[in-house]
Amino acid sequence: MALVTDFIVIGSGIAGLRAAIEIARAGAQVTVLTKERAEESNTEYAQGGIAVALSEDDEVELHEEDTLRAGAGLCDPEAVRVLVEDGVRYIQELIDWGAEFDREGGRLVFTQEAAHSRRRILHAHGDSTGREIVRTLLVRAGEEANIIFLPHAATESLIVADGRCCGVLFRDPLVRAPRELHGRAVILASGGAGQIYQHTTNPEVATGDGMAMAYEAGAELADMEFVQFHPTALSIAGAPRFLLSEAMRGEGGVLRNVEGERFMPRYHERAELAPRDIVSRAIVAEMDRTGAQFVYLDMTGLGERFLRQRFPKIFETCLRYGLNVARDLIPVAPAAHYFMGGVRTDLDGRTTLPGLYAAGEVACTGVHGANRLASNSLLEGLVFGARAGGAAARDWARGEPSICGQVKMEDVREARGRMGFAVRKRVRRVMWERVGIIRTRESLLRALDEFERIAQAQLSRASRNFLTVAQLVARAALWREESRGAHFRRDFPHSDDRWRAHSVQRKGEAVKT
Ligand code: SIN
Repeated sequence: MALVTDFIVIGSGIAGLRAAIEIARAGAQVTVLTKERAEESNTEYAQGGIAVALSEDDEVELHEEDTLRAGAGLCDPEAVRVLVEDGVRYIQELIDWGAEFDREGGRLVFTQEAAHSRRRILHAHGDSTGREIVRTLLVRAGEEANIIFLPHAATESLIVADGRCCGVLFRDPLVRAPRELHGRAVILASGGAGQIYQHTTNPEVATGDGMAMAYEAGAELADMEFVQFHPTALSIAGAPRFLLSEAMRGEGGVLRNVEGERFMPRYHERAELAPRDIVSRAIVAEMDRTGAQFVYLDMTGLGERFLRQRFPKIFETCLRYGLNVARDLIPVAPAAHYFMGGVRTDLDGRTTLPGLYAAGEVACTGVHGANRLASNSLLEGLVFGARAGGAAARDWARGEPSICGQVKMEDVREARGRMGFAVRKRVRRVMWERVGIIRTRESLLRALDEFERIAQAQLSRASRNFLTVAQLVARAALWREESRGAHFRRDFPHSDDRWRAHSVQRKGEAVKT
């Protein structure tokens, strides 16, 4: 028998929690489904911080300009305006709710990150900003009796009836079987898809299911070709690609190739603080030129006391791998980090499928364009999570949606099939090698061929979702015959104004603008 709630939120990162709080404040019941524990999300691992124009020498207009410039001509200016303006208010609220951002002498301190014209990044406990935000929001959500958490409940598909999204099919952890949950609307806040790449800074939960489920249900996805590769992930054989925050370069860290040369000034006037796509491609070029698997992040000029206090988690993690950040050069290489594209939404998180809202990394609000400005993602989750929750609650109050009626079970039953580790491993390797930092028509066609072959097998729903996201990225990357922001085509190495448009994908249709 189907379970019933008022609203369903998928995901418990910053966007999902903020949306749930907004809905509960409007007096409705909201059930938050999470794949793992409620604390496990991309947000939890965010180190560098959250960007906001709050320092004395900053202005929202400057934050707006930096965001638009990084977005390489593809940001939605209205969405950016909302982000930077509302951001200030929502951060103040987060502080009122108890978020402890780092301070000196009682005043908030701001760090520097690439492509920001001001020190604008708030951080917490040095390099555990995401964890502090999740802690704050979980405490706040705990005060709302109307919020129910359902952990270890992976969502596998969306239920659509009469052209409207009215529920989800999830794996019930108690009976270990698929189960329906019906509601008035669904808010997707399931995060990104870094895991579809062999090398990623993202946790295991970031497999892009939300994007695939929305696509299968008939919603439009936009800008899927724009995947941001973080320049500096730890690169040691056998170790996960642990993120070494951009704030480390913001505080004075430099990059050296294996010959010891500081190479970034040769690539960009802002050197290590050039936009991420430029730094990542420069690292790849240096790795190719020297035949090495990594370059070095050099923090040795900054002193152990400062580094231990400013980056405690990174310091400890590196020590576990035998590296003292204050004394040793740290081997780093780029890794998939963030999806600028996703489920297309308006400024209030409404997708093109009635009853479905999206916020955070799973969504494409247009704030990031072709390249996200560092530390704008937590801010986006906060602002647009609240807006999506608010819009869902308002639409409900206007009497719009109703709980879905009887759904035909054969439409939602789990497709039995091969799961998989092997399938995922193959997809991740192909994505890294052929749909990665540098792409060509040939590499993308070969990737799509390979995906087509994989798709012939009987796959479980989770594996099918994984493959769908990979196909969406590869198709959009093939469609865009230019280089812009994070999307680089060796066969079309320049930006071209004719391509100043968004890729839009909808099930059963070719990529269009
Ligand atoms: C970082 O700390 O470098 C990551 C921050 C971000 O991706 O915005």
